Amino acid sequence: MKKVIITGALGQIGSELVERLRKDLGSDNVIATDIRELDDNPVVTDGIFEVLDVLDKDKMLELAKKYQVDTMIHLASLLSAVAENKPQVAWHLNMGGLINALETSRELQLKMFMPSSIAAFGPSTPRDGTPQVTIQRPNTMYGVTKVAGELLCDYYHTKFGVDTRGVRFPGLISYKTLPGGGTTDYAVDIYYEAIKTGHYDSFIAAGTKMDMMYIPDAIDAIVNLMNADGEKLIHRNAYNITAMSFDPDELAAAIKKEMPDFTLGYNVDPARQKIADSWPNWIDASDAKEEWGFKPKYDIDAMTKDMLEHLKVKLGKS
Ligand code: SER
Repeated sequence: MKKVIITGALGQIGSELVERLRKDLGSDNVIATDIRELDDNPVVTDGIFEVLDVLDKDKMLELAKKYQVDTMIHLASLLSAVAENKPQVAWHLNMGGLINALETSRELQLKMFMPSSIAAFGPSTPRDGTPQVTIQRPNTMYGVTKVAGELLCDYYHTKFGVDTRGVRFPGLISYKTLPGGGTTDYAVDIYYEAIKTGHYDSFIAAGTKMDMMYIPDAIDAIVNLMNADGEKLIHRNAYNITAMSFDPDELAAAIKKEMPDFTLGYNVDPARQKIADSWPNWIDASDAKEEWGFKPKYDIDAMTKDMLEHLKVKLGKS
C-alpha cells in the first residue's frame, strides 16, 4: 500500500484513516474522496480531496487512473439504522458502490479493502464467541449488503485475482467524527451527553451486549491488514475483530470511574433494539490474531479515559 484512494473519507472511519495515512505515506499519496465537500474539514483542506459519488463508476476509475493509486479503501456506505429506514436506497448505494470499487480494482489491479460488520450476523448465528465461519442470515438490509459484499469480495479474489481484504468491525467509538446512523452509536452519544449534561438516556436496553472498539485500534487494523503478507490470509473477507464487549450499564460504570456523578437512564428505541438483539454478544477474533497479528490496545477503561479527555477539549469543558 503506497498510494491510496479512499471513498467515504469524511465519515467516522475515513476522517481518521486519512489523517493516519497522510502521516504514513505522505500527503501526496492519499486521495480522499466523498460525496460532499466540507470546506472547514482537514480531510478537505490538508491534502488531496476530490468529490466522488461512488455510484459514478467512470469518475471513480478516472480518479484512480489520474493519481495512479495501488490501493482502494472503500468506506462509503449507509449504516444499519439509516439503512433500515430506506432499504432500497441502502441496497443501491452499498452494493452499487462496492461493485464499482471492485471493478475499478480489477481493471487497475488495485489492492482493495471493504469494511464488513458484526451486522453480517443474524438471529440464528451463535451469539457468544461467534466463530469466524458460522451461520450468516442477517435480518437487516445493512446486514444483507454486508454478507453479499463479503461474498462479492471473495468472488473477485478467486475469479479475477483481485487482492480483496476486509474485517467485520464492531461498534466504533471516536470523538472526531460522529458515526453515520448505526445501532452501536449509543456508545458514542453517551460520552457527549456525560460531558454536556452528566446524564444519558440509552436507546439500547439494559443487558444488551455488543462488540465495540476504540477508533485507533480500528485504524491500526485496516493498516495492518492491508500491509500483511497476502499468502497468510486464509479468511480474507472478512475477519472477525473486536476489542471489548459491554452493555450500557457496564459502559456507564466505566464513565462513573472518571465522572462519579454521571447517571444513566433508558429510553429504548424499539427499531434499533431489534437490530441489536439480532447481533452477537461477542465474537471470536482468533483468526485475525493468528493470520495477521490483530492486537487491540484499548480496553473499556483506557478508551473511556481518552474519550473523555479529548471530548472535554472539543466541547470546551476542559
Ligand atoms: N456500527 C455499525 C452500526 O451500528 C455496525 O457496523 O450500524
